[in-house]
Amino acid sequence: MIIDLCPSPALYPYYREDNDTVVVVDVFRASATMCTMLNNGASAIIPVPNTGEAKEYKSRGYLVGAERKTRKCDFADFGNSPFDYTPERISGREVVFTTTNGTRAIEAASDCKGLLIGTFSNLGILVERCINSAERVVILCAGWNNRVNIEDTLFAGSFAEKAIETKGIVLGSDAIKMALDLWLLAKNDLQGYIKGCEHYQRLVDNGAEGDASYCLTPNTTPLVPVYDKRDKKIRQAKMSRPNNH
Ligand code: MLT
Repeated sequence: MIIDLCPSPALYPYYREDNDTVVVVDVFRASATMCTMLNNGASAIIPVPNTGEAKEYKSRGYLVGAERKTRKCDFADFGNSPFDYTPERISGREVVFTTTNGTRAIEAASDCKGLLIGTFSNLGILVERCINSAERVVILCAGWNNRVNIEDTLFAGSFAEKAIETKGIVLGSDAIKMALDLWLLAKNDLQGYIKGCEHYQRLVDNGAEGDASYCLTPNTTPLVPVYDKRDKKIRQAKMSRPNNH
């Protein structure tokens, strides 16, 4: 398997290849929030790139999670904190979801062969699924307004570190090699390192600092969200859950 990294949705056309499996990562916070929704029993997530579409779903009675610039949108039921999505509120329901960057990254890659959602909270099971089923994996970082960020890059590095424990894994570009080096530099004090990131400060400024450590904790939601291009919904992949994740 080849692993590559696309550091921003704006660069995706330059990384795109037929037959790719794309892992969309938005460490703070959309990826962990989506994993949490499915882990807490949501039947599906309907990602939409803009608030107009989300409002339209809301008027039709759907549960809606919507965030812009780190804050919950007024019209929505939930914002982008994983702690908003309790089993009591979402179990058995479909949730429409739009965020500043995460759902835009999903839209950018929505025509790829296989689109998965990844972050620290599903790292182990995600790597295992990719190793077992993908020829080439592109980790697509949501970033911030098409700009590169540190936390998504670190996730790509941790994915690479875990994957290369398996024989026959090839790092496909300078971008993923840089991400692995950054991860090796930061991993022994991830929480401390991340405090220098732009988006960590945004979370602090908006009273959402408490979400950060949840979003960085590995393997709390052992499932893989998969985007189905036929109905444009994200559901939990059907796979057996190994005990060691
Ligand atoms: C995004 O999509 O940019 C986010 O997940 C931002 C956030 O709410 O932290």
